[in-house]
Amino acid sequence: MNTTSFCFPSIDQLHIGFIGAGRLGKALAWSFSRADFRVSAVASAVPADALILAESIPGCVEADAQTVVDTCDLVFVTTPDSAIANTTAALRWRPGMAAVHCSGVTEVSALAKAERDGALVGGFHPMQTFGDPVAAMASLPGSTITVEASEPLMASLEALTKRLGCRVNRLPPGMRGRYHAAAGYTSQFINALFGEATEIWRSWGATDEDALKALLPLAQGTLASIASAGISGGMPGPVSRGDVSSVGKHVAALSLLGESTISFYRQLCASTVPLALAHGAIDLALAQRILAVLQTGRETGTQREKLDPPTLIFAKSA
Ligand SMILES: NC(=O)c1ccc[n+]([C@@H]2O[C@H](COP(=O)([O-])OP(=O)(O)OC[C@H]3O[C@@H](n4cnc5c(N)ncnc54)[C@H](OP(=O)(O)O)[C@@H]3O)[C@@H](O)[C@H]2O)c1
Repeated sequence: MNTTSFCFPSIDQLHIGFIGAGRLGKALAWSFSRADFRVSAVASAVPADALILAESIPGCVEADAQTVVDTCDLVFVTTPDSAIANTTAALRWRPGMAAVHCSGVTEVSALAKAERDGALVGGFHPMQTFGDPVAAMASLPGSTITVEASEPLMASLEALTKRLGCRVNRLPPGMRGRYHAAAGYTSQFINALFGEATEIWRSWGATDEDALKALLPLAQGTLASIASAGISGGMPGPVSRGDVSSVGKHVAALSLLGESTISFYRQLCASTVPLALAHGAIDLALAQRILAVLQTGRETGTQREKLDPPTLIFAKSA
């Protein structure tokens, strides 16, 4: 990362440019403009796409990518991840400016050519879904933006983040793979959970619409509960109540629907046991009984019979 120290314009003086007029590029450019920053130039693979975006922002022009770099101080490379390195490598950058990408998983080193040319480089990853740029712009305030850069760029990215009404998350270099994977748990993996639950609803003839209408408010209630009581304190469900019998009924019912259904349930349910333990909702003996019933579908033998420590580890690693 470039450690050369030189003056970088204050955020109100910055000419901001975008290369890539896609979903995120649009939402971010609009958000910066709405926050009274100067979004000066936009390029895209299809110039007509850049023109549409440029015409929607006062003072912004459509240009080719090199002109965006030549006329702006801070350039967001908002192409798909696979094009960030090649797009950056094809351009001439200069000292005193900055190149930033918005990917969660791509390392900042994808901007190596800009850095070699003397520019500052960084990452600016909004933790939000940009499926629909208009909706994304509305949901951006209050979101977290993960920033990675050296000074003086870091201070500027943090100031931009705060002006957008977002929360700053600093990420050390080399962590993007695990950071982005973790984000998936509360992003696309929620879709997988809805998909699984909906498939179970289908097994008695319910429609996907029935399922979604019932499950969505439930999920929203859970999110509200997490927001107010925390991950373990806000966890609902039988494990949080130490209700071994109900877990056994779930196992028996889902075993009839096939191996993948029951094994997915086992993994998820086992993962809730350490949370209930951490919150003090159950003790170790109850945790062991829940894990045992998860494996067998019924409470066998002496329900308080001790399980090997690895069985408890199953709760964490499953
Ligand atoms: N979508 C999300 O939810 C989300 C969330 C966080 C971060 N991100 C990150 O944001 C970045 C952009 O993602 P996106 O979802 O906005 O992708 P996208 O909708 O596919 O937009 C990418 C845009 O880049 C343009 N482009 C492609 N190759 C180019 C090139 N060589 N030169 C100039 N422009 C080029 C395309 O332009 P044309 O339209 O002109 O063909 C396209 O509109 C990615 O790094 C992604 O990881 C996305």
